[in-house]
This record gives sequence, structure tokens and C-alpha cells, in this order.
Amino acid sequence: MTRTNALILGMLAWLLPAASGQSIQYNASKKIWLLNSQTSSYAIGVKADGSLRHLYWGAPLWRMDDIASPVDRRELSSFDPPEMLENDEYPGWGGTRYYEPSVKIVRENGNRDLVLRYASHQIRGNELDIELKDIRDDIRVTLHYRVYPEYGILRRSSTVRNATARPIVVESAQSAVWHMPPGEGYRLSYLNGRWAAETQLVREPIHPGDKVLESRKGHTSHNFNPWFAIDTGDADEEHGRVWFGALAWSGNWRFTVEQTPYRQVRVTGGYNTFDFAYPLKPGESLDTPAFYGGFSERGFGAASRALHNLERAEILPGGLTSRLRPVLYNSWEATTFNVNEAGQRELADKAAKLGVELFVMDDGWFGARNDDHAGLGDWFVNPKKFPQGLKSLIDHVNGLGMDFGLWVEPEMVNANSDLYRAHPDWVMNFPDRPRSELRNQMVLNLARSDVKEYIFGVLDKLATENNIRYFKWDMNRPFSEPGWPEVAPADQRKLWVEYDRNLYEILDRLRAKHPKLEIESCSGGGGRVDLEILKRVEEVWASDNTEAFDRLRIQEGFSQAYTAKIMSAWVTDVPNQNGRSTSLAYRFLVAMQGALGIGSNLNRFSAADTELATRMIATYKRIRATVQGGDLYRLSSPRTEDLTANQYVAADGRQSVLFAFRHSQQYNTAPPTILLRGLDERAIYKVELVTGRLAETQTEFSGAYLMRAGLNLTLRGDYDAAAVILERM
Ligand code: DGJ
Repeated sequence: MTRTNALILGMLAWLLPAASGQSIQYNASKKIWLLNSQTSSYAIGVKADGSLRHLYWGAPLWRMDDIASPVDRRELSSFDPPEMLENDEYPGWGGTRYYEPSVKIVRENGNRDLVLRYASHQIRGNELDIELKDIRDDIRVTLHYRVYPEYGILRRSSTVRNATARPIVVESAQSAVWHMPPGEGYRLSYLNGRWAAETQLVREPIHPGDKVLESRKGHTSHNFNPWFAIDTGDADEEHGRVWFGALAWSGNWRFTVEQTPYRQVRVTGGYNTFDFAYPLKPGESLDTPAFYGGFSERGFGAASRALHNLERAEILPGGLTSRLRPVLYNSWEATTFNVNEAGQRELADKAAKLGVELFVMDDGWFGARNDDHAGLGDWFVNPKKFPQGLKSLIDHVNGLGMDFGLWVEPEMVNANSDLYRAHPDWVMNFPDRPRSELRNQMVLNLARSDVKEYIFGVLDKLATENNIRYFKWDMNRPFSEPGWPEVAPADQRKLWVEYDRNLYEILDRLRAKHPKLEIESCSGGGGRVDLEILKRVEEVWASDNTEAFDRLRIQEGFSQAYTAKIMSAWVTDVPNQNGRSTSLAYRFLVAMQGALGIGSNLNRFSAADTELATRMIATYKRIRATVQGGDLYRLSSPRTEDLTANQYVAADGRQSVLFAFRHSQQYNTAPPTILLRGLDERAIYKVELVTGRLAETQTEFSGAYLMRAGLNLTLRGDYDAAAVILERM
């Protein structure tokens, strides 16, 4: 077949189902479903005995007839039963299944066997529900599928329903199992880290056995982020097959990556099974979090872009109609807890002159909050620091043409607070056991409805009485002693689920009541970043580490899963973490790759700093639609190269921006030529340097030249940086 024919067939493969509006096809005689998007297909079938089998996930297929109905596998030995050789789409724990189950229950009488069979299904547009039922009892599981044809992504989740007359307890409820095509030699990518070192990208071969990525901490966590990618071991940013997924849950979650002895590789993910027990009375049900999955034939870059596009269009509040992120100033690194009206006014005056659009006052404005030992829980303004209340400062900030934002940490309480003195029982705790404090604070039990109402009330009052455009919602410690003594012992572990449901409810109600309010999710940096919180917030704080060189790797990992639009990135003072000092221009260019913020102490800015910052902010406003809404191409990685290079291409292709950072030049070596991506090879681009120098002398180049011959930046010494804007002529 010629390359052209192959291309046409490939195009047809995804155009046909999408164009006919049939992203989901069903063949009734074969009992097979084919779910199609522009870049992937997914097939499931029912076996003769009624069990549901995964059949295919990968590059697009268009011919239903190609897919065979699932058949029985022969027992290999009494130790390798047929169930182990087949890819069960959503296995209950029962019968001869010894791998990670999708759902595990226990009945009142101790019976734990659950074997699920197809019962019915329903297709509505891009959505498919398949209902399964236990072979004996009326315990039902509905599998939900939603295809996003234009983004190449499938959303999956499940609902476990107790339709029997007796109570059951759900011990494991997973959102989905994602199966790779049978084989070996796969490689897993995931995001690992800790406080101030989040989203470090790890790539390692998948070996036989299980690998667990999880949070047991009550929040999404800094240690692992609920994202994975699996490739055939040879993919790079531009090439190769990549299967990827991201779970939408901000509480305890778990991915189990399994390679079995039968050439099966799969990822099971959903609620963490650790300490999990969710009782269901007759008629009750449990919904699992959404698990989004996609496939790319064009490497890790296309996989990330698919997620970025989905987030901007389908996940973030307001979708594509939401505004571009404003340039933000945050007081934290400048003043820490020492906030007061005069000091904040002074910073606001300076920030406004630089071109800042949103002024955020961080920690220290409330209760007896002079350090981290007191005040959390007392969300009334400190009268010594703000004798005229917040209004006077907010009016001043608004008068300067900026919106006002406020830091809050609603889920927490200090022992030294009026709230804790009044309601010590509101903290999650095991009676008569110590209550562990971290950063001198405890976690309120948000699973309780009185706590939920209190938190909603406090925030609603603040937003009603003041012109607050933005809350920075922080959460500075994980759970401990997650007891809920007020409910029956059997119900206490529901806390792991109800806490987050109430968190989401508060955010939803606040947003509904204050439609202009925007929210940032922060958890001591990037501890609460996931696709479910993203439905309710405009920005996230990726890390408390604002040191620009460290930030390159944090941002590289972050960008695997999340769009630059939500990534709050600040320019701060030096020396910073690691005692490192980089130039102000370098720090700006690092932060300009996300939603730009300034966290410096502006009182220390020299005239030259002020001039540079003003110019950089103006430049950022010119390019932010490209950075926040465009396609990201990671051209060179800080993990493996002496040069980090990222390029953003505007959605309409008219502008592109290249950022490049040299780490440490040795032997007087020139940096490598940078080959750009995503341009129109026939178009001519005008090249403009934001900072840095080009070896080339002309300023106009064809897309073909830029992508094939490339640009040569003269980056010298340590921590040199440059940025180039390309405007299509
Ligand atoms: C942790 C956050 O990540 C910081 O940005 C800052 O808001 C502090 N908390 C305030 O206590």
C-alpha cells in the first residue's frame, strides 16, 4: 500500500464514526461494542456465558466485522484457570480470579463471592452504560463510558448498587481497568515527588508483578499524582504508541499496574482499597471517580496535548469560554504572616504599576494569625492588622484596576483558635487517642454536615461581604487519625469518600452563588491537583518550590498531565531553594510558561528590575493566549539534556513561542540547534527575541526551515535563557 493510501485509510478510520456521529457502535449478534474517537478505538464484548471481556484499546479501527466475539480460553493447568488468561472488563472478586479485582464486597453473612454477568446496556449519543449483575444476587454494577471523539479520550467510571434486601459492604470499588494489548516490554511513566519537589517524571520498565501508585493521605498528594502513561518501551515526544490515563479524585486513590505471567498488562484504578469499607444498605449505591484514558500513536507529546485540550474544553469551569488567566501578585514570599493594610497597599501600588491584574493577599490576615501556631479556623479579619476591615484594602486594590484575591485554609484548625475551643469534636479523631498535629494544625472532619455547613457559611460570608474575585484554597497537611466517632463504627470509614464529596459540594455551591468567583487549589504546593478538583478551580499551585531551575523539572512533569493554563507560576526572589540565584529574566521566562504570577518582594526591586518586570509582563500578555490555550511541544527535557526547550503554538497557528534554558555550559560548547514543531511549513514566520541572542542574522524564516534546519540560540555560561516569539506573516 502506498503511503498516501495508508494515510487516507487512516483518516477514514477516525473520520467515519466521528462524522456519522456514531462514536459508539453495537453489533447485537456478536454482542460487541466499538467506541471510537479520532485517535483511538476501544472494544468490549460479551462471552457466551455472559461475562464481559475487554477486546481492544489502541489506534482507530473502523470495521466492526474485524473484531471477533470473545471465546473461552482453555485451562492451562489447575493453577492457571481460564479466568486468569482472559481480560475481564470489570472483574468482581469471586470464582477463580486471583488478580486485582475491580469490585469486592462482603455480604452480611460473610459471603464474599461476586461473579458479574452482562444484564443490559444503553447507548445515548457518546455515552454507553453496561449493567452487570451477580450470578445469584441482585448486586449490580453499571459501567459508564463516555467518548470524547475530538480529544481521543474515554471517560470511565462505575456504580455499585445493592438491590438485595440485605446490607453489604463494598471493600473495593475501582473506576476502571485499562488493558494494554497482550505483550511484554512495556514501560510505565508516572509522577512522583514530595513537598517542594512534586511531579518528577519517572520512566521505568514494567516487570512481572504489581506496582502500586497511590495516596493514603486524604488528598491527591505530592508523592504520586493520579496520572500514568504506558508505552511500548520506545516512544518519545513525537513517536510511538502511548496509552495514558488520569483519575479524577482528590482523596485516597490507587493505581495497580499489573503484568501477569500471561502477557497481560493492565492498570486498575479508583478508590484506594487501603482502610476502605463502604456499607450499602438495600437500595443504596456507590459511584466511583471518573477515570479518563486515551491513546496516542504520536508519542508522549500528543498524549499530553490530548489531556490539555480535554481539560480546557470539558473539565475546567466555563470551558473554552473562560477567561485567560490574569497576571497575579501574591504576598506570601514577600511578607509571610506579616500582613497589614499599609504593607499590602504598598505592594499593591507597585504590583499595579508592573501590570498585575489580580492581587492576592496570602496567609496572616485573620484571627490571631502571626505565625503557624494560631488562628486557623477563625476566619474573621484581624482588627490590629486591618483596623478598617478588608474593605478598605480591597477598594484600594480595585481602585488600582486589579481584582482582589484572598488566601484561606478552610479545612484546618489550630488548637489555639476560638473554633477549636468551641468545637474540639469537629476534628477527625479516634477518641482517647492523641491527635497528631502537623504544622501545628488538625484536620476538620469535612464528612460531617455541620462542618461542611460551617465552612460553606464562612466562605459565603467572606465572598458576600467583600469584593473577592479569587480564593486561594490551601490545605497544608494530610489526614491522620481519620476517625468519625459520631457515626456507627461500620460507617466510619465512609469518611474517605464523604469528605471529598462535601469538599466538592462546597466548591460547587460557592461557585453557583458567586458566579464571578475564581478559586485556586493549593495543598502546600501541588498536593491537590487532579481532574476532579479541576472541575471547580481555575488555577492550581504546582509547588511551593519557586526556584526557577528546580521548577523546570516540576513543570515538565506537571505538563505531562495538565495544561499550562492552570499552572500558577511565580517569579520570586533569589537566592531561593538550594541557595541558587538565577537572573530575573530567567525567572520570568520559567514562570511565563504557565499562568504568570509575581511573588517577589517588590519593595526590594531596583529600577532595572521594575523596568524588566514591566516589559516581561507586557510581553506575557501578548503571548498568554498561546501559552495557556495553545499546543505544547516539549522539545528538550531538563531530565536528560543540558538544554530545556518548550514551544507553544497558538490554536489558530498564528503565533508560536519558544522558551529555552541552558543549564551549565562546558568546554565552550554551543547549545544544540532547536528544531521547532507544529508550524506550517509553507508559511513565513517573523522571529522576535524576548531575551537572548540568535546566531542567525535574519528575522524571517519559513516553517519548513524552522522545523528542519532549526534555530541556534547563543546560550552561554550557567542558567542562560532566551525566548523567541514567532508571528506568522
Ligand atoms: C502553603 C502554600 O503553598 C503557600 O503558597 C502559602 O500560601 C502558605 N501555605 C501559607 O501558609
